[in-house]
Amino acid sequence: MRPATVLLPAALAASSAAAQGVRILQTNDDGWAESYLREMHSSLLAAGHDALVSGPAENQSGTSSRDAEPEPRTEPCQFDSCAANSGPVGSNATDPRLNWVNSFPVTSLKFGFDTFAPQVWGPGAVPDLVVTGPNIGSNLWLQVPFSGTIGAAAESVKNHGVPALAFSGLTATHNRWDVSPVPLESTLYAQLATKLTNAVIASGTPYLPEGVFLSTNFPKVSSSRCSKVDDFKFVLTRINPFGFSGPDAPHCGGDTSLPTETEVVLNPTGCFVSVSVADASDKTTAPADKQAVVIEKLGDFFTCM
Ligand SMILES: *[C@@H]1O[C@H](CO)[C@@H](O)[C@H](O)[C@H]1NC(C)=O
Ligand SMILES: *[C@@H]1O[C@H](CO)[C@@H](O)[C@H](O)[C@H]1NC(C)=O
Repeated sequence: MRPATVLLPAALAASSAAAQGVRILQTNDDGWAESYLREMHSSLLAAGHDALVSGPAENQSGTSSRDAEPEPRTEPCQFDSCAANSGPVGSNATDPRLNWVNSFPVTSLKFGFDTFAPQVWGPGAVPDLVVTGPNIGSNLWLQVPFSGTIGAAAESVKNHGVPALAFSGLTATHNRWDVSPVPLESTLYAQLATKLTNAVIASGTPYLPEGVFLSTNFPKVSSSRCSKVDDFKFVLTRINPFGFSGPDAPHCGGDTSLPTETEVVLNPTGCFVSVSVADASDKTTAPADKQAVVIEKLGDFFTCM
């Protein structure tokens, strides 16, 4: 049984009526108090989802799949978001959906599953989906193995059996959760990530084939060109260049070689988002049979370049 649903202002609740609300566990590697993560949280709540954050107490960028028992903190968390000597894990004093872990992204995810999910959703409750990021900065090809945002998504699939979506944005600005005004990139990346999240959910369960996650990169935000959700098109991509693996599943008129992420997000003729089907075991391009399932489910969502 689902406990109390998220309370939303009437207008937000009405606008989200079309999407089915599900339980989403969020983490990142830039820190629990970063604006990108918090805007994503607000955006998921506004879309009617039951979202919960368990993120690292500070910047853990580049920590891949590292995992270690959290140590008690002596210093305040990132941006003074927790007091000094607050212990190894903690929560926002008034909002139990916002939690930190004094360790790596993968460890934060574990505490999300084992500690915070049961606290907020009830005993034995598990998320329907894990969403990581948006990461501050890209996670393209050679960057992928080092990213904690990617590491946590892979961990969710491999060791928790829960489908995962990793998001990263090329515009890289660090801001505290309560920055005012909220930067355009924080809001826009959150809206774009929510759009894909909703499409994955609308495609029905199982949301993704076994053993894979989606790794998405957003191009740079520009107030003159790429400034609102409808400016952006989503393109199915591969992580490593064709030749390292392939062929890909037929897509866009039967083509069996997908573009690389880099080609897509740096394409100057538009605002293109890359979405790769990633193998959770080695964080490379997933095999064609897995890509084919994603194309079957989400084909209409993608644009051909
Ligand atoms: C976060 O950590 C990464 C890796 O150590 C570093 O490159 C980046 O500058 C840090 N960000 C901030 C805001 O300190
Ligand atoms: C904690 O939550 C409250 C209420 O939502 C908010 O005003 C405050 O900024 C949050 N602080 C942190 C560090 O998350």
